[in-house]
Amino acid sequence: MRYVVTGAAGFIGSHLAEALRARGDDVVSVDAFTDYYDLAEKEENARGLDVARIDLADESLELDGVDGVFHLAGQPGVRSFGDAFPLYLRRNVLVTQRVFQSAAEAGVRVVYASSSSVYGEAERYPTPENARPEPISPYGITKVACEELARAYAVSFGLDAVGLRYFTVYGPRQRPDMFFRRVCDALASEATFEVYGTGEQSRSFTEVADVVEATIAAMGGAPAGALYNVGGGEEASMLEAIALLERISGRGLEVRHVDRARGDVRRTKADVSRIRDALGWEPRVPLADGLARMWAWASARVAAR
Ligand code: NAD
Ligand code: UGA
Repeated sequence: MRYVVTGAAGFIGSHLAEALRARGDDVVSVDAFTDYYDLAEKEENARGLDVARIDLADESLELDGVDGVFHLAGQPGVRSFGDAFPLYLRRNVLVTQRVFQSAAEAGVRVVYASSSSVYGEAERYPTPENARPEPISPYGITKVACEELARAYAVSFGLDAVGLRYFTVYGPRQRPDMFFRRVCDALASEATFEVYGTGEQSRSFTEVADVVEATIAAMGGAPAGALYNVGGGEEASMLEAIALLERISGRGLEVRHVDRARGDVRRTKADVSRIRDALGWEPRVPLADGLARMWAWASARVAAR
């Protein structure tokens, strides 16, 4: 099969493009190489993937002969108030609208990355997909807008789109603004780590290999219009996660508490019964195993500096 992967120089997109290639698919990789984080990291992620530098806010996808689009390009990060917001609008809402338009015209399925942040402080835990979306970050609002665009394009153009609400993804190549990456970097370089708030907030952390598996399964097996949570099985607070990484690394972390971040939810816990029933997917990587793999990757990077 021939697939387009957008955001292929990013954290999740690069793993996805590699996995598709490894199983023999023909992959067209696309990324704008935005400067949200160090471009050298994106170059590293993209190594061997032959990524076309295309800004999807300006240029359209060429979909002749393509069997499906994995749309992972976007502006991530829930701490998205203030001057950053126009970038979220452009890279999430505008780009997604343009990808949906191209896919609808070409009659091609799109599997796109949504987010647990659509739930905000969720009305119930574990949170099923039919819980009311009440995002508390501008980022989450742009992700709700993308889901609504998928619905509108399905109604008016017959777009075949499948949305995946990823829950805090971790693993090798995790973005440098994210929690585990920063904890690993601080442990490896003996720096102080800043916890936002009490550290009692918790997440359904999801290992990137599990995310890739769910994403590929959705392209092949999900009904048109499906929307699934893709979340890890083990919930942990930030303090518990730090303790786990201290054990794995055999080091102690110096922690400083600073103000809670705006847009940050107190808890995520995914109900994954819908995707389990439809596609047979469930998270498989235990948090301790995933963190050992992440520590091995992140500490080697710091050591090589
Ligand atoms: P990432 O920033 O590493 O990857 C996104 C990539 O999209 C980047 O390489 C960036 O250059 C590219 N991009 C941005 N704007 C573009 C444009 N206009 N044209 C082409 N490419 C563009 O982020 P990630 O963590 O890999 O996230 C991938 C997707 O998954 C995003 O849509 C994100 O919102 C979503 N998501 C991520 C997580 C997570 O925990 N990492 C959780 C939920 C949802
Ligand atoms: C993550 C991604 O960054 C978003 O792109 C994504 O959409 C979202 O998951 C999701 O699940 O939808 P977040 O859960 O905030 O967002 O993930 P992290 O950035 O890893 O933060 C986890 C927790 O650690 C948050 O409570 C945050 O406040 C805290 N944190 C983060 C710190 O205490 N210190 C830091 O330096 C960074």
